[in-house]
Amino acid sequence: MIQCWRLDDRRQTLVLGSHRKHLAEVIYWGPRLPDDEDLDTLFAVHAIDVTGGMLDLNPELSVSPEATRTFPGQPGLIVRASDGTQLLTKFCLVQAQEEPGRLNLFYTDENNGLTYSARFAINSRTHVIEAQAALESDEPIHLHWMSAPVMPAPQLSDEMIDVSGRWCGEFQLNRTVWSPGVRFRENRTGRTGHEHFPGLIVPCRGATNTQGQAYAFHYGWSGGHKMIAEELPDGRRQIQFGHAEHMEATPKKQFETAPLYITFSDDGLNGCAVAFQRHLRDEIVQMPQPDRERPVHYNCWEAVYFNHDLPVLKDIASRAADLGVERFVLDDGWFNRRDNDTRALSDWEVDPRKYPDGLDPLIDHVHSLGMTFGIWFEPEMINPDSEIYRAHPDWALGAEDQILGRNQKALNMALPDVRDFLFERIATVLRKHAIEYIKWDHNRVLPMPDADQTRGSYALLDRLRAEFPHVEIESCASGGGRIDFGILERTQRIWLSDSTDALERLKMQHNAALFLPATVTGCHVGSRKCHTSGRVLDMSFRAWVAAQRHMGIEMDPRELTDEEAETLRQVVSWWKQNRGWMMNADILRLESPDPAVIAEQQLSADHARFVVFAGKAATSSQIAPRPLRLTRLDPHARYRINLINRDRAVGLSRGTQTLKTESVDLSGSYLMNHGLTLPWSFPESMWVIEGRRQ
Ligand code: GLA
Repeated sequence: MIQCWRLDDRRQTLVLGSHRKHLAEVIYWGPRLPDDEDLDTLFAVHAIDVTGGMLDLNPELSVSPEATRTFPGQPGLIVRASDGTQLLTKFCLVQAQEEPGRLNLFYTDENNGLTYSARFAINSRTHVIEAQAALESDEPIHLHWMSAPVMPAPQLSDEMIDVSGRWCGEFQLNRTVWSPGVRFRENRTGRTGHEHFPGLIVPCRGATNTQGQAYAFHYGWSGGHKMIAEELPDGRRQIQFGHAEHMEATPKKQFETAPLYITFSDDGLNGCAVAFQRHLRDEIVQMPQPDRERPVHYNCWEAVYFNHDLPVLKDIASRAADLGVERFVLDDGWFNRRDNDTRALSDWEVDPRKYPDGLDPLIDHVHSLGMTFGIWFEPEMINPDSEIYRAHPDWALGAEDQILGRNQKALNMALPDVRDFLFERIATVLRKHAIEYIKWDHNRVLPMPDADQTRGSYALLDRLRAEFPHVEIESCASGGGRIDFGILERTQRIWLSDSTDALERLKMQHNAALFLPATVTGCHVGSRKCHTSGRVLDMSFRAWVAAQRHMGIEMDPRELTDEEAETLRQVVSWWKQNRGWMMNADILRLESPDPAVIAEQQLSADHARFVVFAGKAATSSQIAPRPLRLTRLDPHARYRINLINRDRAVGLSRGTQTLKTESVDLSGSYLMNHGLTLPWSFPESMWVIEGRRQ
């Protein structure tokens, strides 16, 4: 007997089918099918032929491919009995629950005492499908590997794009050509990591940012993931995502994967990007005060590092307020003897040497300037040189003689005592002070991946959020080392990178927008001479790059010249006027005809306005700028186009271009099919163009 199910939104259809109660296969995923498509016929025709050298039937590429069905590729599940014997599973359908937009399939394997379920939920507003698998066992078993429901990858695709990175170099895109065999990525660092962001995009041939078909995947888990993208000998392709292997250290009876977020787009990579941006912003992130506008940040890390001196910090706070800042964040260095990074992590009590009257004098000063106050913690970490370590050396995770990372060990978050201790210390600081923001850091990898550690971190975050629902939390891990939809279920902002080099940020933000909306993506104006790259950049460029996302400042404002301060003030003020719509806009990556230009268009939810940021990241090879095509406009509408920072045109831009002197009205059709011809500019500068529908 054949059974089929379908999930639809306006742009995509996912069809699963199975016969003889075997595990279901995704038999179609792509553009929306007609409502009356006969699914049994689809099931029948979707089977590929067999020829010499093949089995007499092709084993199913199911939601969890099974070795017992002679599947020739990587299996979706690897489990062992508690005595170590491998359990070769063979699941049989027991129930299919269907509701609008949801499908839950339940299977049993009676011989092995196992129940497997695959769940799908489609969000018709964001076009994201959440897919998750779970396993239950009558007896405790070892889980080595479980993939979230396995998806096919398109055949008309020549390559896949995934994301790697490093400290100060997050969100680098890699393109890998499909070929028989496996593209295998596994993050065994125990945190999401800079190295392997858990995302994948599979563009179909010819897809660009703005057109063509593409499929995208994101695994929402903060403990490190494994991805398999495999082309089978018969040409079929499968995508698996799950926790890193062997993360479940002990035998258990229940397991589940994190949600795998997937989407199909028929309008380029931007279709995937916008789906993820909206899904994260509107369905996952919970802002403490959803109607409050995102405040402009100041973070003191690069201004003072560990040298906390109250008069200096007050002076800096006053200068920050004068620039337009609304939230002041006190970074590392405020607690017990923390004069450098060798000691005191986990001693979360205010340092009486630096703050003899506690934090209130600083907080009161910050409040008197009209700003709110935030503070840094690194809860999961402990320095061997700390009071807590001396009292509880057994609270540290991993071997006694392990290699330290930034002179620190991780705490064992699976221990209730550790979580209680951290909760009490953090809660005490929050109860005693008017603090509405935590920058939550995680600066080292774990000694080994361990799902209990991630669940422990989640539990602590959940408990703190329940007790302090007004407190917003930023996820930082040496910059972008813990960015994923799992942590963003519990936090509201990410520190994309420790690099505040605007040139590096321009590229990073461009790539991160494939998954992340502006409202969660922190970007700060750094020092004139960047502390992590040594590059010297102009204030206008630094400020506009920060204005592309959730804006902040992270530098010593005492270094600012009057002119720099004025430029910064103006951009902050522009950002405040526009954040209301920009923080809910879609970020659209533009197809740039000049590789030296990295450009994006932020389009308001009502499509009535947009802003284009065209960053000149290098010197162009041709002499004159090439027109930049916009996207997703109404071809029949007219838009008023205004180059708002036209006063930055340099002397070497000698032409009489209209945009340098006035705004112009142009049709969406012209803007999308010919594009905007911008004035000549220096590298490391940014044109900012506003558009309003007339
Ligand atoms: C990490 C963070 C920085 C800063 C320091 C403080 O490196 O990424 O932003 O908070 O820790 O030690």
